[in-house]
Amino acid sequence: MKFDTPATTNPIDQMQVVGHPLNRIDGPLKTTGRAPYAYERHDAVPNQAYGYVIGAAIAKGRITAMDLSAARAAPGVLAIVTAENAGPLGKGNYNVAKLLGGPEVEHYHQAIAIVVAATFEQARAAAYLVKVDYAESQGAFDLAGAKAAGLGPSQATPDARVGDFAHAFAAAPVQLDATYTTPDQSHSMMEPHASLAAWDGDRVVVWTSNQMIDWSTGDLARTLNMPKEKVRLISPFIGGGFGGKLWLRTDAVLAALGARAARRPVKVALTRPLIPNNTTRRAATIQRIRIGATQDGKISAIGHESWSGNLLGGHPENAVEQTRLLYAGANRLTGTRLAQLDLTEGNSMRAPGEAPGLMALEIAMDEMAEKLGMDPVEFRAINDTQVDPSNPDRPFSRRQLVECLRLGAERFGWVGRSARPGTRREGQWLVGMGMASGFRNNVVMRSGARVRLDGQGVVTVETDMTDIGTGSYTIIAQTAAEMMGVAMDKVVVRLGDSAFPASAGSGGQWGGNSSTAGVYAACVKLRETVAQKIGLNSADAVFEDGQVRTGNRQVSLAEAAGESGLVAEDTIEFGDLAKRFQESTFAGHFVEVGVDAATGEVRVRRMLAVCAAGRILNPKTARSQVIGAMTMGVGGALVEELALDKRRGFFVNHDLAGYEVPVHADIPHQEVIFLDEVDEMSSPMKAKGVGELGLCGVAAAVANAIYNATGVRVRDYPITLDKYLDRLPEVA
Ligand code: MOS
Repeated sequence: MKFDTPATTNPIDQMQVVGHPLNRIDGPLKTTGRAPYAYERHDAVPNQAYGYVIGAAIAKGRITAMDLSAARAAPGVLAIVTAENAGPLGKGNYNVAKLLGGPEVEHYHQAIAIVVAATFEQARAAAYLVKVDYAESQGAFDLAGAKAAGLGPSQATPDARVGDFAHAFAAAPVQLDATYTTPDQSHSMMEPHASLAAWDGDRVVVWTSNQMIDWSTGDLARTLNMPKEKVRLISPFIGGGFGGKLWLRTDAVLAALGARAARRPVKVALTRPLIPNNTTRRAATIQRIRIGATQDGKISAIGHESWSGNLLGGHPENAVEQTRLLYAGANRLTGTRLAQLDLTEGNSMRAPGEAPGLMALEIAMDEMAEKLGMDPVEFRAINDTQVDPSNPDRPFSRRQLVECLRLGAERFGWVGRSARPGTRREGQWLVGMGMASGFRNNVVMRSGARVRLDGQGVVTVETDMTDIGTGSYTIIAQTAAEMMGVAMDKVVVRLGDSAFPASAGSGGQWGGNSSTAGVYAACVKLRETVAQKIGLNSADAVFEDGQVRTGNRQVSLAEAAGESGLVAEDTIEFGDLAKRFQESTFAGHFVEVGVDAATGEVRVRRMLAVCAAGRILNPKTARSQVIGAMTMGVGGALVEELALDKRRGFFVNHDLAGYEVPVHADIPHQEVIFLDEVDEMSSPMKAKGVGELGLCGVAAAVANAIYNATGVRVRDYPITLDKYLDRLPEVA
């Protein structure tokens, strides 16, 4: 089905099932431990062996010698695969560094070998017997140093200019010129990357943990120089991804190579200490923001430049994306600058671009509002735009940013905020409120599904879509139930298998809208097939209560399907609506913090997000996504940081004790409000994404609340107390 004109009324609009806050249909499997994750596929194939990955001990240089003899002779060892004996390997589309390195080493903990043994302990013990000699060379690790040396604009994203920024900024009566930094971050999902690979002749099956089945199936085939049809990926349950599992990674490649060498199925999990330096990271940024405005608060010039670093061939962190679209202003400059750094690949992490970009931009807006003597909500509201600021002929499909901000201010009690920072005190606590806009683009991706109706009236949906903890199983079941007019318990959803039709996958907050639109398309076809089978005109047929009827004729779906059942398959394809209209999602984030006047300890007291993101397919799973994202945003504001050793080029804190994320006790009270909205431009579902929107802007709202509480502005994330303790107001 081609979606290239605005959605009209369709069966989803009935909202009998879609739009209801239903529990996750996969919840019982998960809470009882029966949802099988990749490393737990003990029953999938017999005779499983274990692989242990060896990561490079240098960040840059060459392996000069590898002595495998002691490891090969160790108990239980079945095979050792290195770049030397693996045979020629192709490269997946999305991998910058090789997933099996050697003799060149491109980054610290790049995989250089896998040791396969009968037990995990034997594989690990043998791995420590592998002797590697390196010739280390000087790598580049320091972003600030590279910036000081004067990076040019990156090739990948040329500067975007509208009007004459330099002139307009210089002429602006009120100006802000400030620089902000965000650190490297690691996805740190609960389930580390894991894969079990089994060969059958020249075919391989990999049970894995991956957000994008179709991409990664193709990438594994390319890496192994095989036809894609001979590779199967299975990933029905995923213990978090956050973008770290968008790509084919070391675990899957080395499980496949290890299994081929050992002639046995092999399972591989990356150990937690490998995650920060072996897998991808969110790249650190240095962001310079300049805003010029008139005395009455109208932005006349806005400039945002972002520096980040990556391996050769990698992309910049596009932290300026939202600044092209979020606020009005006739003169604009946005651009990224890229340093070549010998650190593990910088790539997508939840809301890549906007998440770190808004961490900076939304502090800058707070600072500017203060310079203007304006309320931060009002300053944002008067600079709203309903069109793409660099192309007035391109309206937003639906933009309710101001509505989010105003409703949020009202519900949060923003009126109680003191405009003068550092003036509200409750006992030992300095108390403050902060807010920020949330913005994330809405991307649509082609997505396929197959729907089967059987003789019991059960509808089974199959698509390679994944559920990374987001609720995909549930919203897909709701879509099929609504379309076919059956109860939720008559729908079975099967996901995450490359044998199923290729879907949008889980990434870029496009999964919910796009994958359900694919299911919608397949169900439209199935409805036609059912109607045709019983000789009805599908345009008049009503699907309701497990029946299909027109006028006075009524047939049960079970009967219509018959013994052999009926099946339909389709793919939603998106036309150019997303080019003609700017499709984005919006939020207002509000935070209240207490800062201990003596110790500087920050406690988040209350949080509110008001989101406008099209139709909300399931308010319960959507809310869970947003509160999870808000929690992540508090982590980004206060604790999350990969600590870089600039001499040796690796991230030092490689466990969840050293890489901190918030826990429940850190977040006492969160509320989420969804504006009642449909977006006819986004898909027949009229939905957009929320999973990344929920994160965008949160960290800046926390930062602004800390400023409001203390009067101390910190522009370097995370806002740890060493950065402001000596600047706190005197304790009375
Ligand atoms: Mo998202 S960072 O595209 O999983």
